[in-house]
Amino acid sequence: MKSGFTNPRFFLAMAALFAMAAALAHAQGTRVGFYARTCPRAESIVRSTVQSHFRSNPAVAPGLLRIHFHDCFVQGCDASILIDGPNTEKTAPPNRLLRGYEAIDDAKTQLEAACPGVVSCADILSLAARDSVFLTRGINWPVPTGRRDGRVSLASDTSNLPGFTESIDSQKQKFAAFGLNTQDLVALVGAHTIGTSACQLFSYRLYNFTNGGPDPTINPAFVPQLQALCPQNGDGSRRIDLDTGSGNRFGTSFFANLRKTSHHE
Ligand code: HEM
Repeated sequence: MKSGFTNPRFFLAMAALFAMAAALAHAQGTRVGFYARTCPRAESIVRSTVQSHFRSNPAVAPGLLRIHFHDCFVQGCDASILIDGPNTEKTAPPNRLLRGYEAIDDAKTQLEAACPGVVSCADILSLAARDSVFLTRGINWPVPTGRRDGRVSLASDTSNLPGFTESIDSQKQKFAAFGLNTQDLVALVGAHTIGTSACQLFSYRLYNFTNGGPDPTINPAFVPQLQALCPQNGDGSRRIDLDTGSGNRFGTSFFANLRKTSHHE
């Protein structure tokens, strides 16, 4: 059972990314209901599109939440992640496994039919991330809109993103650059309550890591479970829940799992 819904601090902090998105866009004048007159169905079109993609493929929800994060950390929440071409953000290693672009393209096509040239892709991404949390049984919240789309997308700028092999200090610094503190960092990583990771990204820690054995910072009781899911020299593209046993549902068990599955002397 997930009990985290009683903890408003978690959700307030979880919304920090989106608050950050709003702060970054503030100079451009974002507000809730920005499209109320120019495209009244904008938000319902995004929601129903995300919902229909989610119904046929639930992996779209975590995919879209992660795309929003990876967009916001590079040039702000300006949809620069969506730009195609050589050496764009999309092509950079941290973005190679992003999923869910098709839902955004679909929403944009429908919005262009309903209100040509009105709704930005940056807003679609923000709304779609909110809708993904809601569809996985997290909370719903009002999203300020009115973001402008960027035109610059450089693979080299993705060094802003925190890497999974980076130290905590370095991750803290990368968040601090956006005015986000350690509590924000911890809460936002709680997004890993939904979604999966590919074996190729972490199986190096399960075999021959130190002294021929697994990474000693993983709880020894959890190691065989992970080894069974990601066999040595097995399919590296196989995807494993980040929040063991609850990967489709937005809640706080990720944090409890994290304590259980790590091992500290
Ligand atoms: C703070 C440092 C963070 C690191 C190092 C990190 C790293 C990762 C890695 C390595 C994966 C697995 C990717 C894959 O195998 O495809 C992942 C997945 C994911 N991340 Fe993060 N992440 C961080 C923060 C965040 C934040 C702030 C959010 C959103 C608010 C987020 C949302 C997600 C989601 C939803 C997934 C699952 C994606 C899917 O199932 O397609 N992450 N992250």
